[in-house]
Amino acid sequence: MAGPNGAAGAAPGKKAAPPPPAAFSGKKHLPLVLLVILSALVYNQIQPPPAKIPGTPGGPPVTSPRIKLRDGRHLAYLESGVPKEKAKYKIIYVHGFDCCRYDVLNVSNICAFVMNWKLVQGLMEELGIYLLSFDRPGYAESDAHPGRTDKSIALDIEELADNLQLGPKFHLIGFSMGGEIMWSCLKYIPHRLAGVAILAPVGNYWWSGFPPDVVQEAWDVQLPQDKRAVWVSHHLPWLTNWWNTQKFFPGSGVKSGNPGVHSREDVPLIPKFVDRPHDEQVRQQGEHECLHRDMIVGFGKWDWSPLEMENPFAGTGEDVKVHLWHGVEDLYVPVQLSRYISKKLPWVIYHELPTAGHLWPAADGMPDVVVRSLLLGDE
Ligand SMILES: *[C@@H]1O[C@H](CO)[C@@H](O)[C@H](O)[C@H]1NC(C)=O
Repeated sequence: MAGPNGAAGAAPGKKAAPPPPAAFSGKKHLPLVLLVILSALVYNQIQPPPAKIPGTPGGPPVTSPRIKLRDGRHLAYLESGVPKEKAKYKIIYVHGFDCCRYDVLNVSNICAFVMNWKLVQGLMEELGIYLLSFDRPGYAESDAHPGRTDKSIALDIEELADNLQLGPKFHLIGFSMGGEIMWSCLKYIPHRLAGVAILAPVGNYWWSGFPPDVVQEAWDVQLPQDKRAVWVSHHLPWLTNWWNTQKFFPGSGVKSGNPGVHSREDVPLIPKFVDRPHDEQVRQQGEHECLHRDMIVGFGKWDWSPLEMENPFAGTGEDVKVHLWHGVEDLYVPVQLSRYISKKLPWVIYHELPTAGHLWPAADGMPDVVVRSLLLGDE
């Protein structure tokens, strides 16, 4: 009965409701309407809230020095050790998941010893180390980078170094998610690297080159809720925010601090993370652009694999060392993937810590061990 413009005659004798527009008339269109409404609701539910931008009205304050990248984003940084002009070694530290620039590797320095009423120089002064730490994009006071990839972070680090005039080469140390980023730096900016230490790195189960049994063994170390959260961030990245904020099923156990991820040696180190004076700063822009983005990129689909990497320093005439460290009892990040990578890449010097969990870089003394080995080749 309905005409092309929806003008239809009403049945005589009945009080007719205004005719529906043609496009929506007829029962067969009802499911479509519902679907549209439902999708809008779902879309709304799974949309992450916008990040709070540091230094803007309503956003968190900027308290640290920052550099401006070419694309306009800012990176906040923290310098320690000897002044860079005098330094013999320049190290850039890349922090892990749910951390920020203040969670820098605690390399010994003169201040730590003055507090004990002893004036003994620390490793920083002894070796002449300048240590630079920065907030990764979306953390604390560095602008979010929704377009972040496994490559962009390496280029950010290079630009940071150039902006602060660190010279042609620098050392890198990365822990956990920051450890995974070391592989990206080895791939995309090897010509800038003087040496690399990779500490308890996150591995991506979908990198090509892992035998299925190795992946399975590593996968099974995770809590069931982490298996699901990691699976979602790989297969349904658009659902990551919702998955980790909904209340029906437990989201990432690493994110929520589930005690199931702490091994024996991690337990006494937990207060160092929980009682951080800067704890409030870490996620102050919102969880999506820091935590969820880390998962989406870290467990995402990469178009290359560290397992298939040739020695980036072969034939350069440069003696650049790459150290990989992993604790056997690591329940955050299974050791199996690092162990396999170390077998595949003969140019990587592998240190397996038989009783350590994940948090060992925070244990007193360990930072100096890592740095000595990186700079002097001890150990
Ligand atoms: C950093 O290391 C020093 C020893 O070099 C230690 O006294 C201090 O407690 C450590 N700080 C943290 C936060 O681990």
